[in-house]
Amino acid sequence: MLLPHKHSAEGTTIFTIMSALAQQHNAINLSQGFPDFPIGTELASLLGEAAAQGYNQYAPMAGLPQLRQQIATDFQKRYGVTINPDTEITITPGATYAIYTAFTSILEAGDEVIVLEPAYDSYIPNIETNGARAITISLKAPAFSVDWDEVQKAISLRTKAIIINTPHNPTGAVWTKEDWDKLADLVRDTNIIILSDEVYEQLIYDGLQHYSVLQHPELRHRSFALYSFGKVFHNTGWKIGYCIAPPEFTTAFRRIHQFLCFSVNTPAQYALATYLSQPGLPVVSKMMQQKRDHFIDMLSATQFTIHQPASGSYFQTVSYEQISDMPDMEFAQWLTREHGVATIPISAFYRNKKDDKLIRFCFAKKEETIKLAMDRLSAITVTAK
Ligand SMILES: Cc1ncc(COP(=O)(O)O)c(C=O)c1O
Repeated sequence: MLLPHKHSAEGTTIFTIMSALAQQHNAINLSQGFPDFPIGTELASLLGEAAAQGYNQYAPMAGLPQLRQQIATDFQKRYGVTINPDTEITITPGATYAIYTAFTSILEAGDEVIVLEPAYDSYIPNIETNGARAITISLKAPAFSVDWDEVQKAISLRTKAIIINTPHNPTGAVWTKEDWDKLADLVRDTNIIILSDEVYEQLIYDGLQHYSVLQHPELRHRSFALYSFGKVFHNTGWKIGYCIAPPEFTTAFRRIHQFLCFSVNTPAQYALATYLSQPGLPVVSKMMQQKRDHFIDMLSATQFTIHQPASGSYFQTVSYEQISDMPDMEFAQWLTREHGVATIPISAFYRNKKDDKLIRFCFAKKEETIKLAMDRLSAITVTAK
């Protein structure tokens, strides 16, 4: 039977490939973006308690009202924005799902979506599965900033949306208010919709502040903002996220969501709602900045080099040009096989597999994991060329 291939991505996602290779070679897995340290004991207990208390049946389609209310209160406090929890927030099984659902609720065959690369690898398949076309633009190394002339040139009458990700996976770059203003200038007289992937909003360093699309007076009314609890509370395996969007966008989003998964894990929603209601939750960026600094510090004893420290996210992009001139995909596999450290080649984040000899490390790991990896990395010399 010939089944349709609904998008242009070949084979399995790089995250599955590299994690499987890491397992096969018993390598330290600094490839996929998940922490290897435990979640807070209190959050873990709340999950068990919710199940024990009998919260085990379907939650409401839009998400547990208490959780949506807590999110609204949290955004008022942290970003000074007022969000209606009934008409503007939908709880989802993770941010990847929320991105797919947002695209599905707006895209029609023939539409175009602008994607800034390198980009999280689900965006383009999500766009293409909906019969639309991704128009890609490369960010400018080493800061991975946006070439606004390129964006302007890419806009056409068919442009339905542009997807933004800040703080950025894989480069750790962070957008400023000025970036959002430039985007606002470009879309002002159009109907272009913004998808703002803000899953790393609370992982931001060096005193920088995350600027959310929800804070932008001109852009908010045309935007879907997408979030993931997994990245904030170190529980990526819970797969709980949410979408914040104006009422008419939320209605369109739920029109798809109700028939795609209907509702999301009930005890996890109870646990998160109770957890969020408590004062004095830990500041994640402080802990994660220490991890980034520790990673960069230890990497300086190796032949790997850093063009720019990550300003946010779980990730540091690293150059191996002093070690090898292998293509990055080959190098990442060689590093896993021969030296027992798994990473992600940056070419995997480009549709055309653009190779700048960069790999991505996830530093959201225990100190001893990073130390063990660095022991292995510092043993590598230029002879690998
Ligand atoms: C940029 C970006 N968006 C979305 C996600 C997915 O989040 P979730 O695990 O909630 O689906 C990730 C996960 O790595 C990511 O890096």
